[in-house]
Amino acid sequence: MEKLIGLKKVKTAVFISGTGSNLENLIKFSKIKKSPISIDLILSNTNEAKGLKYSNQYIIKKKIFDFKDIKSTEKNIQILIKKDNIKLICLAGFMKILSANFIKKFNGKIINIHPSLLPKYKGLNTHKRAINNKDKFAGCTVHYVTAKLDSGKIIMQKKIKISAKDNSTSLAKKVRNLEHKLYSAAIMKIFS
Ligand code: GAR
Repeated sequence: MEKLIGLKKVKTAVFISGTGSNLENLIKFSKIKKSPISIDLILSNTNEAKGLKYSNQYIIKKKIFDFKDIKSTEKNIQILIKKDNIKLICLAGFMKILSANFIKKFNGKIINIHPSLLPKYKGLNTHKRAINNKDKFAGCTVHYVTAKLDSGKIIMQKKIKISAKDNSTSLAKKVRNLEHKLYSAAIMKIFS
């Protein structure tokens, strides 16, 4: 990632599909003086994403694309991103898979948070899989997005112990709290 120039913050879009707790955390982080980013766009593939409420709360532009026609949707997203001068895309619980072509266009500028210690447990149901496998640790990863699902270069990871009492719900909650610390730390790292 290119270095920050002067005090200008890097315009960032956050793509969501659900609750948006990582989105809110990133918005709060962006408002800290030392943060290298500003959140200028919230994009969702569904108008049912609860996280869209942060658009009103923090006065941030929101856009919803249904992704029914991926090719034209991605074309429209590209136009929007160019127009708004967005330089970084953070996926935060975004459940659509972006095409290789789109990812290539923004090569090295799309990052994702994933609720496992990658390369373990790519895809879905990460916590259930970790518990079923009797893993001692769980965690989360921020990584660059490449055409291969959850396989891009790892930027940062954090891990926690899985306790005997944990089920996938309690573990998801613990990992989510960890994610909130990790995402901003990883962004600080890529701009340092
Ligand atoms: C987070 O746990 C994130 O890691 C996960 O979805 C959740 C979204 O929560 N992402 C993925 O599973 C992507 N493969 P949030 O909407 O509260 O940020």
